[in-house]
Amino acid sequence: MLSKKVEEALNDQVAHEFYAAYLYLAMMAYLDGRSLGGFAHWMRLQAQEEVEHAMKLLDFLLDRGGTVELQPLGKPPADFESPLAVMKAALGHEQKVTGMIHDLYGLAVSEKDYPTQVLLQWFIDEQVEEEKSAGEVVDQLELAGDSVSALLVMNEHLGRRGPEEDDAGE
Ligand code: FEO
Repeated sequence: MLSKKVEEALNDQVAHEFYAAYLYLAMMAYLDGRSLGGFAHWMRLQAQEEVEHAMKLLDFLLDRGGTVELQPLGKPPADFESPLAVMKAALGHEQKVTGMIHDLYGLAVSEKDYPTQVLLQWFIDEQVEEEKSAGEVVDQLELAGDSVSALLVMNEHLGRRGPEEDDAGE
């Protein structure tokens, strides 16, 4: 039986994951508008993963007999300074989500909710991957600096990311 506290926190996390999808779609649109189709493709897949994360939580709520109460989503920014600023913001967002998942895990521990702990272990692993993949793109963009050719090589590389890959596109 889900406690009220865990049920509410899981509902909140569903919204956080959908907001991440929304944010990444805004980033995707910005990158697409800069003719960086490879970066945009990478970000589009990232957004799709966030929807999968939200659905995993939502289905868990349903499986446990919890009440699903969808929350309003905020408006993501429509403009960004540069591809590097986009990727830094994406990494920062992942770090924020990691903190939320850890807080949620802490709550599941204090509530002695073992099934929720098991579910969240998947999310804890996933956040390690998510931070790693966004961090790699940030690092590579910083290395590229003002080099347009390096940016275009990266764009080509990121455009090859497959739907199952969690890394920067290798
Ligand atoms: Fe669902 Fe990227 O965290």
